[in-house]
Amino acid sequence: MQKILITGGAGYIASHTNVELLKGEYELVLIDNYINSCEEAVKRVEELSNRKITFYEADLLNEAALDTVFSEHPDIQQVIHFAALKAVGESVEKPLDYYTNNITGSLNLYRAMLKHGVSKIVFSSSATVYGDPETIPVDESAPIHATNPYGHTKSMMEQILIDSAHANHWDVAILRYFNPVGAHDSGRIGEDPSYPNNLLPFVSQVAAGIREKVVVFGDDWSTPDGTGVRDYIHVVDLAKAHVQSVEKLNQSKGVHIYNIGTGRGYSVLEMIKAFEDACGHSIRYEVGPRRSGDIAEVTGDPRKSLRELGWKAELGLKEMVDSAWKWQSANPQGYKV
Ligand code: NAD
Ligand code: WQD
Repeated sequence: MQKILITGGAGYIASHTNVELLKGEYELVLIDNYINSCEEAVKRVEELSNRKITFYEADLLNEAALDTVFSEHPDIQQVIHFAALKAVGESVEKPLDYYTNNITGSLNLYRAMLKHGVSKIVFSSSATVYGDPETIPVDESAPIHATNPYGHTKSMMEQILIDSAHANHWDVAILRYFNPVGAHDSGRIGEDPSYPNNLLPFVSQVAAGIREKVVVFGDDWSTPDGTGVRDYIHVVDLAKAHVQSVEKLNQSKGVHIYNIGTGRGYSVLEMIKAFEDACGHSIRYEVGPRRSGDIAEVTGDPRKSLRELGWKAELGLKEMVDSAWKWQSANPQGYKV
């Protein structure tokens, strides 16, 4: 058994990753302050896996709490660092909250790792670090050009980690996720936003009658149907990329950066149409103005992940929207029971 510390362990992507890890020889210790999640998600992961998880309700800003976790689990061998605030719009309004939570939280974690001799970490980064790339699909060597405070925290967290890795001989996998969507096929875990900032959760809530209509942010982009194109990635595929990264760090040294996407883009209208097929009725939408800071199109080149990690997305658009709808319709209140 290998013990892994999961920060932000009750969150959307962590929950799906935990289920995949618990299929194997991994023991999990979770830290989360529930700022954007709840205990019910952890309980459901335990239920789905029929395994127990050690859980600390703690904030990464609390250095003493981190020290306790590492001291009580001297056999932690790797960390998967999910914990962060992630809403782009909110980060523009409250940049200091984002820098404090994401940067100071990460610094505390990295220092605790150093103190307790843990030298392997998988880090949740984002395609947002590329900003509006010059060529698509974008590969990992493209310049870093984040365009908002959230994106800046991600590129800074990457850089701090790379510098620490070089100084302290750490082994690091930086995963740059494209647009994670969908849910576990059991319908028991999924994304549970209080107010959805991203397209698919919003479409899903309109389909369920919770919200009135989707506003499409512009139909005059230079894309085939005029609406924004993104590289959507099924959260279960993304979860598996973490398991493969943990395995990779058990075998190979140094810093590795990987795009986690499919390489294929879908427009906003294609996503709404696919969701209509999943839920069996039409979804009301209207075209509104462009959202500030948006870009026309971004997709990621996933070839390095295939070559070096042996990872490739297996699930397509149908599985993404079907699973999102299954989760939404089975849990109209999310995790509230
Ligand atoms: P999420 O909000 O569901 O998960 C993040 C978890 O971290 C939450 O459970 C939250 O309560 C916890 N957390 C935040 N700050 C904390 C702190 N200071 N101490 C302890 N716990 C804290 O988000 P998610 O979608 O699962 O994202 C996970 C990671 O992936 C984040 O780092 C995010 O930036 C990154 N990411 C997400 C997306 C996306 O679209 N969902 C895309 C790219 C990257
Ligand atoms: C997708 C497309 C919108 C909502 C964001 C972050 C990024 C990463 C993933 C964390 C775009 C359009 C959306 C709506 C719409 N997160 N849209 N109406 O902006 O690609 O990426 O989430 O790292 O950092 O920026 O995702 O889901 O918000 O938008 O028309 O109500 O849907 O314009 O074209 P985005 P998104």
